[in-house]
Amino acid sequence: MCACIEKQQKLGLILSEYQGKSGGLIPVLQQAQGLYGYLSDEIMTQIAVGLGLKPSEVYGVATFYTQFRFSPVGEHIIRACHGTACHVSGAENITMIMADKLGVTPGGTTADMRFTLDKVACLGCCSLAPVVMIDEDVYGRLNEAKVVEILGNY
Ligand code: FES
Repeated sequence: MCACIEKQQKLGLILSEYQGKSGGLIPVLQQAQGLYGYLSDEIMTQIAVGLGLKPSEVYGVATFYTQFRFSPVGEHIIRACHGTACHVSGAENITMIMADKLGVTPGGTTADMRFTLDKVACLGCCSLAPVVMIDEDVYGRLNEAKVVEILGNY
C-alpha cells in the first residue's frame, strides 16, 4: 500500500477516535505531526472537518504552540540544546559548526531534505553539556571534532 494512503487511513482513525471529544485538538495535531512530520494546510483542513471545527480555529491553536511545524522536515532532525548548561558550554558554537557543515540556518532544512537543524530548550541531560540529539540519539560533551565526526556518520 502507498505510504500516503496508509497515512491518510491512520489520520482517519485518529480523527474518529477524537471526534466529539472535548480537548481532542492538541493530541490530534500532535499525532498528525507524528505521521507527516509537519502540519500542512491540507492536513489542518482535514482535521477541522474531522473534528467539526473551523479551519481558522485549528490553525489558530496550531500556530500558538511552538511544538508544531508547518513545513516539511528533513530525514534526520537535529536538536541542538540551547538550555543554560549547554549555552555556557558553547552551544552557539556547536550549532554554528553544524549549520556551516550542513549549509543550513538554524530552524531550517537542508536542500536535499536530509537534515533539519533546530535550537531547542534543555534536553534533560545537562551534565553532558553541550548536548545535541539527532533523531533519538543523544550526543554529549561535544566539541568541533566530535560534531564533524558525528555528522559524518549520517
Ligand atoms: S541545558 Fe542542555 S541538556 Fe540541559
